[in-house]
Amino acid sequence: MFHDIFGHIPLLTNPIFSEFVRAFGKLGKLFIHEKEKLLQLQRLYWFTIEFGVIKEKGVYKPYGAGIISSFGETNQIYNQEANFFPFKLETILNKPFRTDLMQDDYFVIDSLTQLFESLQEVKRLFTEKVLV
Ligand SMILES: [Fe+2]
Repeated sequence: MFHDIFGHIPLLTNPIFSEFVRAFGKLGKLFIHEKEKLLQLQRLYWFTIEFGVIKEKGVYKPYGAGIISSFGETNQIYNQEANFFPFKLETILNKPFRTDLMQDDYFVIDSLTQLFESLQEVKRLFTEKVLV
């Protein structure tokens, strides 16, 4: 419950982020019968909504609920004790993750608008059957 209320709920008050989450759900519904695409969406969810990082004015800040609701993960971000990579869809969609360990790798967005707009690219990759 702490994870949901402290980690997920506050950012949903941001209109861009809430639109991202809504659009994400629609994308999931669109591809609900395609197992591999759902797996890729799961990875995107993991590295954004759960473990996303944004860089603002040169500072890495968590926006993912999995980080925000974890003292250890939050410290990792602010102490820069992990690997920070630019947000790249092709990498994220193909990157397995572990749920039982602290994360080593985070993907960094420049803005919530970038995050929201990435879903259009995901939809394009999925519908045009581009190899991702
Ligand atoms: Fe969560």
